[in-house]
Amino acid sequence: MIMTPFTTLFITFMSLFALVASLPLSARLQARDVFVPPVLYPHAGTVWYVGQYHNVTWETKDAPVNITNSKGMIYLRNNGLIEMNEELASGFNILDGRVEVHVPNVPAGNNYSIVLFGDSGNYSPIFTILA
Ligand SMILES: *[C@@H]1O[C@H](CO)[C@@H](O)[C@H](O)[C@H]1NC(C)=O
Ligand SMILES: *[C@@H]1O[C@H](CO)[C@@H](O)[C@H](O)[C@H]1NC(C)=O
Ligand SMILES: *[C@@H]1O[C@H](CO)[C@@H](O)[C@H](O)[C@H]1NC(C)=O
Repeated sequence: MIMTPFTTLFITFMSLFALVASLPLSARLQARDVFVPPVLYPHAGTVWYVGQYHNVTWETKDAPVNITNSKGMIYLRNNGLIEMNEELASGFNILDGRVEVHVPNVPAGNNYSIVLFGDSGNYSPIFTILA
């Protein structure tokens, strides 16, 4: 067979396909166990005041039986950037569906959002924090 760039590409593609198809079923199923729970609260229109306590909540009904990492973390995102020094909660069980957080003393007037980490990160809609 003449190795044109196309046949090379085709062979590469076919070997990748064969590789994926040859993975054990368990490896392919495990990939589906990554749990990205949708955040329910805070939602668009939520207003929090600095110093208040609120329950961040998320959907757990679609959680797979075995999840790769059940320990959750919550960070604040300010104008699209995750504030790594504003950890709101950590070490809770991602299957709990809620965790109480203390609203940190952050500047008012920015676009805030919550990032929930379990297996993977998930953002809440943008909401407001006032002083
Ligand atoms: C958060 O939820 C728990 C359990 O329902 C409740 O006991 C607690 O008072 C709630 N916290 C706030 C700030 O609403
Ligand atoms: C979940 O993990 C347990 C223990 O490793 C295993 O026995 C069970 O078959 C797993 N269930 C699913 C649905 O993967
Ligand atoms: C917040 O988002 C709105 C809408 O996307 C935008 O118009 C506004 O400039 C943002 N505010 C800040 C402080 O980034």
